[in-house]
Amino acid sequence: MRTDPLAYLGKEIDNLKEQKLFRALRILEDEQKARTTVDHKSVVNLSSNNYLGLTTHPRLREAALKAIDEYGVGTGSVRTIAGTMDIHMELEQRLADFKNVEKVVVFQSGFAANAGTVSAILTKEDVVISDELNHASIIDGCRLSRATIKVFPHKDVDAARKIVKELPASQRKLLITDGVFSMDGDLGALPALCDLAEETGCIMMVDDAHASGVFGKNGRGTVDHFQMHGRVDIQVGTLSKAIGALGGYVAGNRNLIEFLYHRARPFLFSTSHPPSVAATCIAALDVLIEEPEIIDRLWDNTRFFKAGLQALGFNTGMSESPITPVIVGDGARAMTLSDRLFAEGVFAQGIAFPTVARDKARVRTIVTATHTRDDLQFALDTFKKVGGELGIIH
Ligand SMILES: Cc1ncc(COP(=O)(O)O)c(C=O)c1O
Repeated sequence: MRTDPLAYLGKEIDNLKEQKLFRALRILEDEQKARTTVDHKSVVNLSSNNYLGLTTHPRLREAALKAIDEYGVGTGSVRTIAGTMDIHMELEQRLADFKNVEKVVVFQSGFAANAGTVSAILTKEDVVISDELNHASIIDGCRLSRATIKVFPHKDVDAARKIVKELPASQRKLLITDGVFSMDGDLGALPALCDLAEETGCIMMVDDAHASGVFGKNGRGTVDHFQMHGRVDIQVGTLSKAIGALGGYVAGNRNLIEFLYHRARPFLFSTSHPPSVAATCIAALDVLIEEPEIIDRLWDNTRFFKAGLQALGFNTGMSESPITPVIVGDGARAMTLSDRLFAEGVFAQGIAFPTVARDKARVRTIVTATHTRDDLQFALDTFKKVGGELGIIH
């Protein structure tokens, strides 16, 4: 009889269970929205990246349905063969206008945009200088490129400068940061990194996954927020989070985008977005431009909720965005906090190693524009009750 060659994975799972880090997937039985049903329970949802509530916005739904009527449900091909529809080109043009850049390429996800871009533009002769908390998709892109990877401590631009200065001036270098860090909610050191890139001739790249639709005028991202226009060579954004649908894009100059059309592997080797997704994203851009009050509501809710958590005595780290971590240290403790909150009607996911450092486990909260004050007050009251019970606050 054949022995199971994957038995070692069972041992890994047992380890996770022993450490109380094994998680069953939570199942959403309703729409992705501020108050919803998860695992048969009505909850205030503090776990999604649906910052602006666009997953259920009537204009986006209507655009998706119309596109299905006009184009059907799929493209049946990768972009470079037969999978580029006029609606994909329209989305790229709309994004280029919105970001005020020469050109944009859309990928199937933000992950594909980061990994596909970094791996395409660098070779093993090159160097990446990367913030230690950059997203996994950047790390994977760096690994795939086979470039040398140099990591600098989080937001430590002096350390980044030291690394760059020790490298041969002639070597190609990519300086890369998240715009907003997804687990801590703080902003990358973009202005100082732009200075460094200019001083030393590095390519400057920012991953604005959590800034798209959230920071900058009408949600144009951190380049707009910090007024770094023209100083960042490669901007990545997602269409999966605040934009409410799915996808990622790269904004930059014509050479960059045309090169990615020819060399980025997810673009070449993976089927393009269904036309309904492209149509949804175009409608989302209309909403960002015509209904910017949604973004104001997001920020009002963010200020209210963050101040509430801090007043209760929770450690919310360095957050400057709608992502507010409640840092508790130990992984098992974070999972217990998350489970107890859930039992009381608040869905906020526990996050532990390897997603964050072993001693920085947390429950991560994300408010949206569509939470009501009652939702947020209920969540704060629940945090107070459960945090007190577990001895996290006194
Ligand atoms: C910082 C960051 N970059 C990129 C991504 C990937 O985006 P997407 O979900 O569109 O693949 C994420 C999402 O988890 C993220 O948090």
